Amino acid sequence: MSTTGPVDPVVDGAAERAPVVPPPHPAQPHEPGEEGVASITLEQVQADERLSLYIASADRVTEAMGYTEHGFRHANLVARIAYQVLRRLGYSEREATLGCVAGYLHDVGNALARDAHGQTGAILVHQVLRDRVEGRDLMPILAAIANHEEAEGTAVSAISAAVILADKSDVHRSRVRRSGRVEHDIHDRVNYAVQQSFLRVDGEARTVSLELTIDTEISQVMEYFEIFLGRMQMCRFAAEMLDSRFRLVINGAELA
Ligand SMILES: [Fe+2]
Ligand SMILES: [Fe+2]
Repeated sequence: MSTTGPVDPVVDGAAERAPVVPPPHPAQPHEPGEEGVASITLEQVQADERLSLYIASADRVTEAMGYTEHGFRHANLVARIAYQVLRRLGYSEREATLGCVAGYLHDVGNALARDAHGQTGAILVHQVLRDRVEGRDLMPILAAIANHEEAEGTAVSAISAAVILADKSDVHRSRVRRSGRVEHDIHDRVNYAVQQSFLRVDGEARTVSLELTIDTEISQVMEYFEIFLGRMQMCRFAAEMLDSRFRLVINGAELA
């Protein structure tokens, strides 16, 4: 499906880089009855002015709070990766499209506040889409949005698992704000130290590997674990939900 972006098994954390396009992967419906066309597309939510306002607002609020970038770059990247994770692991076009839409919208709750932004985001999205999207499509999108943060949720479906893996893989220096204080803030330092991030999905081996290249002059690998241990555990559970194994590879060494 061309409407949800390129299908590449290797996903680069930097949105501006050209994707690696592999040979087409045949559709393999994962569950009977899950085929069909989704009643919402990425293009439709991208074109919605109110949802665009929410994403822009979320980025402004997180910037004011000193968090990394949470705007259109992050939204589009998570959308694309979630779609690819599901397709590469044999899920249907419909499920992949729902994961793509949920990935695009997962952080809109930050437009209100950081706390419980998964749940508030789901309510915001419900208000915008409830009259336009079939209930059977809308509910999994809302559940994926509501459960994407490790403090407040966990993988509750394949769509939700793909959004989690896509979101947590976006650790990269391009997310650090210009105003970020790399010397003082461990999150900024770790993000800035990540020179490359790839989420590699192997549909045959059923592995989802987060491959990071970290500049250890800026941040030690231990610092990464210090702040991302909870995220990695969430990724492990999400991969299991997708009948796959999560691998964390830092500077060529498999750590988890
Ligand atoms: Fe979030
Ligand atoms: Fe996010």
